[in-house]
Amino acid sequence: MVTNPSLMQLFWAFLKLGATAFGGPAMIPYIGKMAIEQMRWLTDQTFREGVALCQTIPGATAMQTSAYIGFRARGVAGAAVSLIGAWVSSGYPERDVFTFTDIDGLTCEATYGEDVEPLFLESNLWYPGSLSCASCHNADLTVSSAQMDMTTYAGLLAGSRRTSPDAKGNDVLGGGDWEASLMYDVLYVRKYMPLGRPPEVPAEGPVVFAGTAIQDGMQ
Ligand code: HEC
Repeated sequence: MVTNPSLMQLFWAFLKLGATAFGGPAMIPYIGKMAIEQMRWLTDQTFREGVALCQTIPGATAMQTSAYIGFRARGVAGAAVSLIGAWVSSGYPERDVFTFTDIDGLTCEATYGEDVEPLFLESNLWYPGSLSCASCHNADLTVSSAQMDMTTYAGLLAGSRRTSPDAKGNDVLGGGDWEASLMYDVLYVRKYMPLGRPPEVPAEGPVVFAGTAIQDGMQ
């Protein structure tokens, strides 16, 4: 069984390892032993994939492997567009947890604030150099693209093409019917948001780490 550690547990485990082992790539077997056998945070297979991935990135491999374990153990990988889709299909809860399926087919839990909102607020997320959605769709409707405010939950729900701050606009979330929504259309069908998006960005958007697995299946 694979368990989900808390951030504190991760922090202490890596601190202890840093104090007892040497630095550099020589540390990787020790990191693996701790994470797989002692702590049961991830499987051998996932660990090996992570090391292989980290070795393709220049820099300190041991540090990157630790970061990878942190990610894998804390969050699961999901495609940005399916994450937004799962949230919309669950009735776009502002605080309540909703479930989604990660790229490995695991059932996971996420929340709007922690996992969905950053997809609209962070720059460099959809592709290197991308502006955040909220930088064009901002709170000042006189300059905001498509007169839509994506900086807050309330703004997002108020919709697009609004004539004044208290006017209701076009529902971009399809009333909870994801595939009928304007959001699905621009992100997945026409793939033209964020505006300027290069064709290399997959229809599903970038893979992001979000939520937590609620089912044990990382075998
Ligand atoms: C560089 C500025 C820019 C960025 C970044 C951007 N948009 Fe847009 N967005 C626009 C413009 C301009 C339009 C209107 C396009 C048109 O009328 O054809 C638009 C239209 C839309 C619409 C349709 C609204 C309507 O009523 O037609 C949605 C939904 C949308 N954007 C979502 C997003 C999301 C989600 C992101 C981030 C992933 C994003 N946008 C990032 C500029 C931007």
